[in-house]
Amino acid sequence: MEKILNGTEGFVDKQPLKNFWYVVALGDDIDSSPISVKLLNEDLVIWRGFDGSLIAAAEKCPHRQAPLSHGHLENGCLVCPYHGWTFGESGKCINIPSSSDGVPIPSKAHLNTVEVIEKYGLVWLCLGEPINPLFELKEESDSSFRRINTEVQKWKVAATRMVDNFLDITHFPYVHAGTFGAGQETKVPNISLEYLDNDFFGYRYDILAANPEEAKSTSGSNEESVERSMSSGFNLPLTVRSTITYKSGLEHVILLLSTPIDEISSYFTFVIWRNDDFTIPADEVIAFDRAIGEEDRVMLEKLNGVMPLGKTALVNVQSDKATVEWRRQLLKLINS
Ligand code: FES
Ligand SMILES: [Fe+2]
Repeated sequence: MEKILNGTEGFVDKQPLKNFWYVVALGDDIDSSPISVKLLNEDLVIWRGFDGSLIAAAEKCPHRQAPLSHGHLENGCLVCPYHGWTFGESGKCINIPSSSDGVPIPSKAHLNTVEVIEKYGLVWLCLGEPINPLFELKEESDSSFRRINTEVQKWKVAATRMVDNFLDITHFPYVHAGTFGAGQETKVPNISLEYLDNDFFGYRYDILAANPEEAKSTSGSNEESVERSMSSGFNLPLTVRSTITYKSGLEHVILLLSTPIDEISSYFTFVIWRNDDFTIPADEVIAFDRAIGEEDRVMLEKLNGVMPLGKTALVNVQSDKATVEWRRQLLKLINS
């Protein structure tokens, strides 16, 4: 097991990864036109059917392989731009315009669809058979919290490097010196790992974070620095959740989503839930988190290639405990 993925061996082609859910778009991104996405090296088209539900299928038309996302919708059915074959519910081909009336549609003309769900404002795909339902976040159904979504970006970095970063707090004083990490203590306490709840495994910690002008609407405090009780945890394969609780009782939950497009590029988005008084505009509340994400992107895009997953391939110290454990579990999963 150690040998696998110590170097450059393919990660995204690993079969077990196909049985999990990945975010590829915001629900709001899919309206009156089909969109194209790429997940684990597979090109896919997604569109919204007549009843508003989503349909996701292989991007290539079964006829002459035209990209279906270049087509258009008619009453919720997808029309191929090349010869007008039309696909409805469940990807079923319902019309071949060149065929005479009464000629049956070949069974191979139907599209191969993949599992799709819409949750937390996001579109999630599973290329195989989902082995688990998507995790439940209690804040979603708690009326004292609001949810804020932001756009799905493309980062030129392996998704594994993103997760590794999102579980790591020791880069804060360096990478995030321009936001909340300025002057932050570089030493971190010993990390002990625990189940944070049923779905996320990780650790809890407290930090004194810089609270510059741009952070004040997010932290709800006017002080120069703020104490944050935090947790960071993962849900396999590639989801990370950070929680921040301020002394005021304000809670700020961040779900960090990394989706492998291919070996070295990924989609990234995050979702915030917070129990504030809902008065500060959403854009303002997430501006600081966006700036933090941008600092991570700039750093991570400097790291080339895939991240080795083997235990001995990278040098680890005590503060890397969470990412070492996540990599151990991920390696076990992809070799299962
Ligand atoms: S390639 Fe799509 S209808 Fe011909
Ligand atoms: Fe970071």
